[in-house]
Amino acid sequence: MKPLAGKVAIVTGAGSGIGKAVSLLLSRSGSRVVLAARNESRLSAVREEIENGGGEAMVVATDLTRDEELERLVNRVVEKWSSVDYLINNAGWGKHAPVVKAKIKDWDETLQVNLRAPMILTKLVLPTLIQKGGGAIVNIASIAAKMGGANAAVYTASKFGLLGFTQSLYEEVREYGIKVAAILPGFVDTPLIPATAKMDRSKMIRPEDVAEAVLFVLNSSPACCPVEITIRPQRTPYL
Ligand SMILES: NC(=O)c1ccc[n+]([C@@H]2O[C@H](COP(=O)([O-])OP(=O)(O)OC[C@H]3O[C@@H](n4cnc5c(N)ncnc54)[C@H](OP(=O)(O)O)[C@@H]3O)[C@@H](O)[C@H]2O)c1
Repeated sequence: MKPLAGKVAIVTGAGSGIGKAVSLLLSRSGSRVVLAARNESRLSAVREEIENGGGEAMVVATDLTRDEELERLVNRVVEKWSSVDYLINNAGWGKHAPVVKAKIKDWDETLQVNLRAPMILTKLVLPTLIQKGGGAIVNIASIAAKMGGANAAVYTASKFGLLGFTQSLYEEVREYGIKVAAILPGFVDTPLIPATAKMDRSKMIRPEDVAEAVLFVLNSSPACCPVEITIRPQRTPYL
């Protein structure tokens, strides 16, 4: 029996990078996976990979900046699989720019995708998790949730916010048996890091390493909750 057999997981940003690795690993562990992001063809490719491996997945094209699409996502899952066990808030975005030059439109999008959507999706799935008395909400934050960096002020603010939301939510729902966790990776080799970055990508964390941390949370004993997991690259990717 696979450890997550019979479970349903929603993964945002599932078409690439960490979200794709999480989706594949949760499927291999027995969970049905709901793949959410904007780019439907990338999501369909992940669904195909899951189905070829004998798993089950559904694609729900979702723009996380649109409230009505967040509601539609959760409704579609409940209609098809009658339940939700895990919400993996993974999607994220930010544009490097100094505060003085940055566009407020980009700030709004960063805050919507990285912070507001995870909060709203949490609100939408919580009644089901509370009723079940279990499940998990895992937020992919960043090491940027602990330390500021130039040209990334609002991305950093969104991740500090996501960590604060995680810590408060854990206190709020721990007695229901619901696990709430934030994962704080350093540099991960994904499309989020531009190809032009002067870094050694071979020294970055692999997306699969972050997926293993998500699985660790979901598989953790009912007596504990790994509320915060920091993952740093073993060797520095800076050249
Ligand atoms: N890579 C790193 O070094 C690193 C380090 C720490 C934390 N993280 C965090 O890890 C998470 C995953 O990022 P990644 O590194 O795997 O990069 P990635 O491959 O670029 O993944 C980001 C995902 O977010 C989705 N997304 C962006 N805007 C969206 C929107 N409006 N609606 C729906 N989905 C949206 C994208 O899908 P669509 O374009 O199809 O919508 C994409 O699949 C992010 O939260 C990021 O902040 C990354």
